[in-house]
Amino acid sequence: MFAQSGAGNGENLVSHAEDLDGTRRDFLYYATAGAGAVVTGAAVWPLVNQMNPSADVQALSSIIVDVSGVEEGTQLTVKYLGKPVFVRHRTQDEIDAAKAVPLSELIDQNAENPNISADAPATDENRAMGGRENWLVMIGVCTHLGCVPIGNGAGEFGGWFCPCHGSHYDTAGRIRKGPAPRNLDIPIAEFLDDTTIKLG
Ligand code: FES
Repeated sequence: MFAQSGAGNGENLVSHAEDLDGTRRDFLYYATAGAGAVVTGAAVWPLVNQMNPSADVQALSSIIVDVSGVEEGTQLTVKYLGKPVFVRHRTQDEIDAAKAVPLSELIDQNAENPNISADAPATDENRAMGGRENWLVMIGVCTHLGCVPIGNGAGEFGGWFCPCHGSHYDTAGRIRKGPAPRNLDIPIAEFLDDTTIKLG
């Protein structure tokens, strides 16, 4: 449902999804990593995808993502529970920019991170992967009406931009300007080792 195109380093990355029981599925998710990679911003993610998946879908919902080929400053997009998930390998500049923002300036001051406490504040540390601040994993669906934001430094805050109605997200995926009410949601995610992330 979503598409990427771009120049950048032009390297196509392939992420393999597997069931938790180790059975390899036929799913191959392709994404393009590189500075020029652009998610098709006008693509509207169907609103039905914002609904919670049913229990049987949830039961199949964990996937393994190999991030070994995601270079610093690039982003991999995988499909997870019918939605795009952005896996960004952040630069130090991106991290520093996010850390420099006072919480009081944030529209949504909640981390929106189900991996930690529900009332955790939206600090950069609470948005990034635990213990690995250079990795940011987020559901790539604008919290306004469900478009897929453009990434790779887009928008006024150097993070993501949703062109549908002009929502700007910063380098921690926090909504900073525009009609979106909430920071980009973070999925259940953890590192299994240095180059492998489990979603779900
Ligand atoms: S859907 Fe993103 S700004 Fe409206």
